[in-house]
Amino acid sequence: MSLSITSTLPLNDGRTIPLFGLGTFLSEAGSPTRDAVLWALEAGYRHIDTARIYGNEQDVGTAIRESGLPRSEVYLTTKVWNDDQGYDSTLRACDESLKRLGMDYVDLYLVHWPVPDLRNETWKALVELQRTGRARSIGVSNFMIKHLDELLNTTDVVPAVNQVEISPFIQRKELTAYCRDKGIVVESYSTLGRGQRTDDERLAGVGEPYGKTPAQVALRWALQSDIVIIPKSVRKERILENAALFDFELTDADMEVIAGFDENASVMPPTWDPETSDKWR
Ligand SMILES: NC(=O)c1ccc[n+]([C@@H]2O[C@H](COP(=O)([O-])OP(=O)(O)OC[C@H]3O[C@@H](n4cnc5c(N)ncnc54)[C@H](OP(=O)(O)O)[C@@H]3O)[C@@H](O)[C@H]2O)c1
Repeated sequence: MSLSITSTLPLNDGRTIPLFGLGTFLSEAGSPTRDAVLWALEAGYRHIDTARIYGNEQDVGTAIRESGLPRSEVYLTTKVWNDDQGYDSTLRACDESLKRLGMDYVDLYLVHWPVPDLRNETWKALVELQRTGRARSIGVSNFMIKHLDELLNTTDVVPAVNQVEISPFIQRKELTAYCRDKGIVVESYSTLGRGQRTDDERLAGVGEPYGKTPAQVALRWALQSDIVIIPKSVRKERILENAALFDFELTDADMEVIAGFDENASVMPPTWDPETSDKWR
């Protein structure tokens, strides 16, 4: 499988998404975010993931401009936060995000979490945002099968992407199969178990023959599963480490071994669990 740092997957709206990018959750506003995005773009990353709730959209936008890269070469995602959900408020929230980013469009706008009672209205706003060019592609995040089933009964516009927690330790095979069947690209967050799994001995064992770290094995496993990844770091050496994924390939046997690591182990708090939480009801 020949993958590069700029490999893309096709989306159901005729566009594409880079398989590999940088996450920015918990990247502090100001120079930590700006430096991380600049280092990443220097290292060849061409995809940045942010969200209104991360509080760093302005710094992401500044760094993309400072990089000197044409806007069209950087794939940028942001998300509508839960307290902005609903039709009019989502349209406003997107405009405010664009203002903070200093951009006139984002490549991908996501419904951050499936807020009960509001999520389907929010989706209608995303359809409008795509129609008017403010979002080139639109998708969802943290949507489980029941949320997608419900949404697809209310709309003809199938989300291009579903961004969910996936790592070797929470593989969500049923959800990923469902998404593929519906033409929805799966994007993984917390692929490194939010840094809690980067010294895992079993991943280290798989990486040893290739001279690769547990983080690199987890990330490469996702790539070879056709899952978009956005590992987050604000440290230059890790930004480089997390991008050094394109000079080795896991074998089918390695992929089988990692398939056995699935233990449905989330790093998110229970209030975030979209299957069970009603925190935002
Ligand atoms: N849609 C959603 O609901 C949602 C939820 C969570 C995350 N996300 C998105 O997905 C991105 C990635 O997920 P995440 O930030 O939760 O977790 P992650 O990428 O799995 O892990 C990030 C953590 O691991 C550390 N780290 C990074 N590379 C490492 C390496 N090579 N070795 C050891 N430690 C390393 C980072 O610390 P340093 O920064 O100090 O290096 C940070 O603490 C987020 O940043 C965000 O953009 C979306």
